[in-house]
Amino acid sequence: MKPNRRDFLLAATAALGLPKLALAQTGFAPLNARTANIRLLPEKYGETQIWGYNGSAPGPEIRVAQGARVQRRVINDLPDATSTHWHGIRIDNAMDGVADLTQDAIAPGSSFQYDFVAPDAGTYWYHAHNRSFEQVARGLHGALIVEEPEPIDIDRDEVLILDDWLVDPETAQIADTFGAMHDLSHAGRLGNYITTNGTYNLALPVKRHERLRLRMINAANARIFQLALDGLEGWIVALDGMPLAEPRPIDGSFVLAPAQRVDLIVDVTAETGGAGHIVQIDRDESFSQVAFEVTGDATRARRDAPRALPPNVHAMPDLAEATKLELLMQGGAMGGMMGAMMGGQMSSMRDMMQSGNFWAFNGAVGGMDGAPLAAMSRGETVRLKITNDTAFPHAMHLHGMHFHEIAPDGSLGTLRDTTLLDRGEVRDIAFVADNPGKWLLHCHMLSHAVSGMMTWIDVA
Ligand code: C2O
Ligand code: CU
Repeated sequence: MKPNRRDFLLAATAALGLPKLALAQTGFAPLNARTANIRLLPEKYGETQIWGYNGSAPGPEIRVAQGARVQRRVINDLPDATSTHWHGIRIDNAMDGVADLTQDAIAPGSSFQYDFVAPDAGTYWYHAHNRSFEQVARGLHGALIVEEPEPIDIDRDEVLILDDWLVDPETAQIADTFGAMHDLSHAGRLGNYITTNGTYNLALPVKRHERLRLRMINAANARIFQLALDGLEGWIVALDGMPLAEPRPIDGSFVLAPAQRVDLIVDVTAETGGAGHIVQIDRDESFSQVAFEVTGDATRARRDAPRALPPNVHAMPDLAEATKLELLMQGGAMGGMMGAMMGGQMSSMRDMMQSGNFWAFNGAVGGMDGAPLAAMSRGETVRLKITNDTAFPHAMHLHGMHFHEIAPDGSLGTLRDTTLLDRGEVRDIAFVADNPGKWLLHCHMLSHAVSGMMTWIDVA
């Protein structure tokens, strides 16, 4: 049972030029969250038990047309309560899938019907949102692709889900060390086995000069991927599903933080018989993350630079009238922990550690129980200054709305739903709070989210 069988089928359909929408679902197609034994590691190891949607990791690709309705019944056949979040979708709040905030967790043996419209084209994903630091790491995630109304000028569309797994090579099983204090208080749970679409060293056959759209999704709990191209030349055309106004040529490396997506349009420039690569740079070393084996000659010359993807229409923030908010991130090991205690809620280091909380927002351990960071009225512009006063990078994600990163010159920059702040970094973001409901704002290093790096915004 190959976890990426479905992706293979999709790729084959694309190559034959058959419409992918044949795979789009109507009615409440089931998404069955269950355990499964799959071949994750190489042959010489045993099979690995994962938790997967329909028993695969990644789960089935969901692909719909822009504006289409997505109807999925998540059936929980796991031993644990779960819920499903549709990351990056400007969704109806009741369908956002946040256990204990927008719905009750789905108990083992029961189900929940998700029913929403996907207003923006782009690359999104879905993942578990109850005990996500464990459930996402066990495999509960998949791609959600929303296609533009007009076809883009490419030869192939490939979804590449990057992930890392913490596995014990002796047993081939996922290390049951969820919530380990070191992961919570340092960089998060980092895996020792890196995959693309559930496969180590994924290799895809291509032809020279083929033009590929690569939709890359970082589904890892905490790993920040630094990537580069070799034998491929191309452009970044979208970030977190949102098209760039101008395709940005890739020169050097680019970064994909947890939960972020990047859409590339690349041309295969490697020679026939050779291979192009997406290269993963890990400190001073580089590895092939995905290989593109050039099995055939070009049938045409290289094309000109691609055009921008059609924009997803968002309300423009009014910076002059914006409500200003601040979020000070503190805590964690290596210096920051003491600073986080000054809020008074944590009288001692021991109290903080006993409660399993290592991080604070604005001087208090965050979560979804307390008051929201802010209560906004619908249509208000929010300008939020985020300060990372910790010794670790954090990938801050806002549910339900995309935000602009404010560029250094003060102008509205790229639209994103997840922004990476390096240690010591400050970032201003702005958005129009135009989607009513309770929206989480949290670090997508999932061990951080569960240990204090979480708050929410109420839009009424
Ligand atoms: Cu991708 Cu709150 O999550
Ligand atoms: Cu974090």
